[in-house]
Amino acid sequence: MLAMNKFRILGTTAIAIAASVVITSCKDKRSTGWEYAPNMYKHIAYDPDQSNPNFKDGKTAQQPPAGTIPIGFKTFDYPNTREGYEQAGVEVKSPLAQTEQNLADGKVLFEHFCSPCHGQTGQGDGLVVQHGYPPPPSYSKGQSSRGGAMKDLTDGKIYHTITYGVNAMGSYASQLEPDERWKVIMYVHHLQNL
Ligand code: HEC
Repeated sequence: MLAMNKFRILGTTAIAIAASVVITSCKDKRSTGWEYAPNMYKHIAYDPDQSNPNFKDGKTAQQPPAGTIPIGFKTFDYPNTREGYEQAGVEVKSPLAQTEQNLADGKVLFEHFCSPCHGQTGQGDGLVVQHGYPPPPSYSKGQSSRGGAMKDLTDGKIYHTITYGVNAMGSYASQLEPDERWKVIMYVHHLQNL
């Protein structure tokens, strides 16, 4: 009985070893087996993280040349300084046509992004101000912290403010595209006259 068992154990072990040799003996251990339409995933182009003999530093991902900007990107070459603000205030003018549609779009954007602080009519009495946030000056009656009446703020000064923010007001550059900023500004001009 015991002898029979011994043979069985030996036999099973031999089969197991043979099977594992067969299973693991493939030449390429990373092979995924049969491939269907392999050029869908083994493409000809280099991957960004692959080494690349065509470039001096041997990398595929290259730094864009200095000064490169994305297609359609609109530059605003005025620094976030008092001088940049004043200079933009004189030189920068809205490229948008004064249309009903632009003004209507500006109103919607203003109500979403600005009215929580500035209030629906730009009086500086928005909802978060009612809950204790420092109130911005009224667009029509207030004074700018950078001098002059709020109602006299020009295209460029407002564009600078939306782009960089000022004191308790943050930048809206990541929320509003340049054209959207100009639409909002059109609406702010409307509120300056209230
Ligand atoms: C979180 C509250 C808040 C939001 C939202 C906000 N502002 Fe302001 N804004 C302020 C405060 C506070 C000031 C006054 C800052 C100062 O001069 O100290 C201000 C000032 C301004 C000024 C005057 C800048 C100057 O030159 O004196 C303009 C113009 C302005 N905001 C436009 C906007 C526009 C347009 C939006 C929407 C895209 C907006 N703000 C969203 C809080 C806000």
